[in-house]
Amino acid sequence: MNRVLITGVAGMIGSHLLDALLEKNTYDVIGIDDLSYGKLANINHHVKSPNFKFYRVNVSDFETLKILTRDVDTIVHLAAVKKVGEADSSMDTLKVNERGTQNILEAARMWGCKVFFASTSDVYGMSPDLPFREDGDLLLGPSMIKRWSYSVSKLYSEQMAFAYYKDYGVPIVIVRYFGGFSPRSSFSWSGGHIPIFVDAILNDREVPIHGDGSQSRSMAYVDDLITGSVLAMENEKAIGEIFNLGNDEEMTVLDSAKLIHEVAETGKELKLKFVPMEEVFGKKYKDILRRRPDLSKAKRFLGYEPKTNMREAIKKIIDLRREELKSSSNRIS
Ligand SMILES: NC(=O)c1ccc[n+]([C@@H]2O[C@H](COP(=O)([O-])OP(=O)(O)OC[C@H]3O[C@@H](n4cnc5c(N)ncnc54)[C@H](O)[C@@H]3O)[C@@H](O)[C@H]2O)c1
Repeated sequence: MNRVLITGVAGMIGSHLLDALLEKNTYDVIGIDDLSYGKLANINHHVKSPNFKFYRVNVSDFETLKILTRDVDTIVHLAAVKKVGEADSSMDTLKVNERGTQNILEAARMWGCKVFFASTSDVYGMSPDLPFREDGDLLLGPSMIKRWSYSVSKLYSEQMAFAYYKDYGVPIVIVRYFGGFSPRSSFSWSGGHIPIFVDAILNDREVPIHGDGSQSRSMAYVDDLITGSVLAMENEKAIGEIFNLGNDEEMTVLDSAKLIHEVAETGKELKLKFVPMEEVFGKKYKDILRRRPDLSKAKRFLGYEPKTNMREAIKKIIDLRREELKSSSNRIS
């Protein structure tokens, strides 16, 4: 059996990865999460599995991490605090993401584990070199804008991972996810725009569009991210490499709201609310205008191929969210 520890296991990607690994029957998994964003409901169906153990632990707690990682082959480090708007504090994003990664790498060095680290397409920032390649230059905005703290924390973590790889020989694999979603996404901004739009449209509320909505994103259904992650975890050739993972279908934020409205067939009008970018991210913030991954490295090294297109992905999340909303309203009535 492969022994894996997943940090952030109760989150969106962590819980789906747990499903996929336990399904294989070749993994024993320890999952940790402090439940700051993740939910026990995402992993409850596995708590009785003999191949899974869950601990409510903060990744900043090095002493506990040291004990839990002792007999582990691979640490999958997903726990993180994600994007912040100008009204929020960036302290947790910076501290948890930096300290957590440092702790994981140090534990891996002590026990000889491999580390799989989840980075983000946000590190490419405003780079004009599309599609984004793993060896391309990165272009981030000014430090007074809190929105950039997430990219900086992930870039720092990537550098730290490479330092452990080169100086101490810790085997590392880095993936840069390009926006994924599932019915287990947080239906707040921390889960990205798709779940927020789905919820607004199913509940006949205004869809909040930051700026004029012409900025594009490449979003993936979680299944594609999980397939790519398992391929990267299991391939020895992936060690010491960075891979973009996601879907390269690019769509503007406005078009994604229109597509969700069309697929949802609510019979109601689409209501849009345009929110000036500076209201959310501050005066000096320039948004990332386009985001598209170059997936050729993941395809070549790992045999990765995204399978779910945007329309199918949206249909899946709408159907499952509808069921969830129906069952919660049944519970209330
Ligand atoms: N979902 C995406 O679109 C996306 C895109 C790019 C990168 N990523 C990266 O992938 C990883 C997983 O993302 P996700 O979408 O599943 O996010 P998520 O917020 O759903 O999951 C993150 C989990 O980490 C846990 N966590 C946060 N702080 C913690 C701490 N101090 N100690 C222990 N647990 C803690 C949260 O409770 C949560 O369950 C993150 O590192 C994220 O930065 C995700």
